[in-house]
Amino acid sequence: MAERWTRDNWRKKPIVQVPDYPDQQALASVEQQLASYPPLVFAGEARNLKAALGRVAQGEGFLLQGGDCAESFTDPSANNISANNIRDFLRVFLQMAVVLTYAASVPVVKVGRIAGQFAKPRSSPTEKKDGQELPSYRGDIINGPEFNATARAPDPARLIEAYRHSASTLNLIRALTHGGYASLGRVHQWMLEVDPRSAQRYLELADRISEALAFMQACGLDLERHPELKTTDFYTSHEALLLGFEQALTREDSTHPGTWCATSAHMVWIGDRTRQPDHAHIDFCRGIMNPLGLKCGPSSKVDELLRLIDILNPENDPGRLTLIVRLGADKVGDMLPAMIRAVQREGRSVVWSCDPMHGNTITSKSGYKTRPFDLILKEVKSFFSVHASEGTHAGGVHLEMTGQHVTECTGGAHAITDEGLNARYHTLCDPRLNAEQAIEMAFLMADLLKQERANKAKPLPAVSGL
Ligand code: PEP
Ligand code: CO
Repeated sequence: MAERWTRDNWRKKPIVQVPDYPDQQALASVEQQLASYPPLVFAGEARNLKAALGRVAQGEGFLLQGGDCAESFTDPSANNISANNIRDFLRVFLQMAVVLTYAASVPVVKVGRIAGQFAKPRSSPTEKKDGQELPSYRGDIINGPEFNATARAPDPARLIEAYRHSASTLNLIRALTHGGYASLGRVHQWMLEVDPRSAQRYLELADRISEALAFMQACGLDLERHPELKTTDFYTSHEALLLGFEQALTREDSTHPGTWCATSAHMVWIGDRTRQPDHAHIDFCRGIMNPLGLKCGPSSKVDELLRLIDILNPENDPGRLTLIVRLGADKVGDMLPAMIRAVQREGRSVVWSCDPMHGNTITSKSGYKTRPFDLILKEVKSFFSVHASEGTHAGGVHLEMTGQHVTECTGGAHAITDEGLNARYHTLCDPRLNAEQAIEMAFLMADLLKQERANKAKPLPAVSGL
């Protein structure tokens, strides 16, 4: 019999990766203030996302999840013009979605790591520089990245700032995705000034989409009357790390009494460092109705994974749980088959998603934390090939990416070198794919998905817009 759940039950459990706030009273008062703020998302939207993910779990769709490793309040990569940064991200993300939808003929469920991705787990609680030791940077919702004692002190006022940033980011996203910007008729306008090698393939595809739309119009179809061609469903997500913040924004769903929604985002995930079954993060997440992600790194044990699935999705609700596998390019072939077989044997419904970023981080010769594009791609290919052997669906991908032309991951069409990383290395935490690398990745994944469909030779599902 599961223990009764309440929003604050997690406070009784052991917890890791929490900041050490010097002023607990100030923290409590900020959390109280947050609890009176309006929700950022509605339970009905989270339910729609769960239904879309449920279809992915059943093999009919693909989850595209991506965005910054850590969003920032000040946005260094966009010269503080954060509206441009958000728009550029969305533009690249929509391009990727269109590549996958059109080239692989699958409905794509679009989930950003955005509008709330502010809290970071760290491998070490402190950082040392020139003989000085300070608390590690844990994301803008907790402290500042600058290496001085004032910036690194956890500050509860940042929770309010994070709420404001999330609200304004989400507002812009809603305007862009429902105000005409995401219309398929604009498929050419989303093009950035990218390398002609990646641009050409995209432009060819955009031409084909425009031709298809013109053909449908000529046949008498009034595109104006089809909202699915003019708007797109875009969802938000982040790691549910700072549980005081999550609790303050968790509200009872007025249309389903007794059901609780974390209104900070449509989907939240549990990080690889906070998935201990008897700890606070799992306890909090089991009680909310949102679709959940669970990061599965190389320390995942099959028995423990099954236990976590039981705790997080006892009703075996399709779309409730996405396993975000981040094993690393050289481990996925060895470890993933056993995970898939155990989940299949137990008859558990999950979305299998591949995070090819977090298991492939290395330090470059030039000293930067980086990820070689080839290794990222190798993990994605192995992920698809294991699923092909097991007869299961490679259901999604989870990427750290930006719409900017940063130089953080080596390789790709532009062949960024170790020495080249210095040019535009802007991330506050982990290295991200830049705009061109992200689109290149989308084409490669579209080929893999097309292959998966060809192997299964199943009839295509209806594709509803973007
Ligand atoms: C992340 O997604 O930024 C992250 C920290 O991932 P993980 O928990 O898988 O290490
Ligand atoms: Co990261």
